[in-house]
Amino acid sequence: MNDSKRRKFIFNSVQTSAILGSGMLFPNILNASQLKFNNFSCGDKNNKRILVAYASEYGSTSEVAKYMGDILCQKGNKVDVQWIQNIKNVDNYESVIIGSPIQYDTWIPDAIKFITKYQDSLNKLEVSYFFTCLTLSKKIKKTELQANEYANDLYKLIPKIKPKSIGQFAGVLDYSKMSFLSKVIFKSGFFILGVSEGDYRNWADIKVWANKQG
Ligand SMILES: Cc1cc2nc3c(=O)[nH]c(=O)nc-3n(C[C@H](O)[C@H](O)[C@H](O)COP(=O)(O)O)c2cc1C
Repeated sequence: MNDSKRRKFIFNSVQTSAILGSGMLFPNILNASQLKFNNFSCGDKNNKRILVAYASEYGSTSEVAKYMGDILCQKGNKVDVQWIQNIKNVDNYESVIIGSPIQYDTWIPDAIKFITKYQDSLNKLEVSYFFTCLTLSKKIKKTELQANEYANDLYKLIPKIKPKSIGQFAGVLDYSKMSFLSKVIFKSGFFILGVSEGDYRNWADIKVWANKQG
């Protein structure tokens, strides 16, 4: 089994145990919708209108989206940062940035559903994607190749949408945000992968990328 397949296998095993174990015992225990997400607007409506649409399970990707929104606002754009589930249309924007954590080697379902649903509109707009992941918690050749694989798959996900760029960022592993059961299950999975709890976000990298988006 090569590294990429082994990683997929471990994540899939963790997912199966999580769903079977916690889902049967405590319905909705893995649902993180009670987390507080960042939604805000800023800027003058006469300037470039940018939507930062984010998916997030444990909140760290929403903080990345908020940070990007702040940077784009400071550049004078009209920016809305919105949790992807609250977005009803994208027609009022010239540019849309869509971000999600990676889970099991791809974006989380909320983000995939969003681009699938709005592909005809997004196809006419300037679009960029980004993701957070723990693969990039270590920056070595092997993990960079893995992250590039995530990006290549995202480029192909909806052929009608041609993102001008895909930002790849290290994310967060915070067991305090997880239910007891998820914590137990994911701790063993991430231990096997050699990933320790921590905030691996590199705000300088995020800033450089965000500055290029508006
Ligand atoms: C269930 C689960 C599966 C994950 N799968 C992957 C993965 O396949 N590859 C990876 O690099 N990171 C993976 N991660 C790490 C997340 O992408 C990372 O923790 C992200 O920063 C979390 O973002 P959030 O706080 O917005 O939910 C996974 C995390 C969880 C909880």
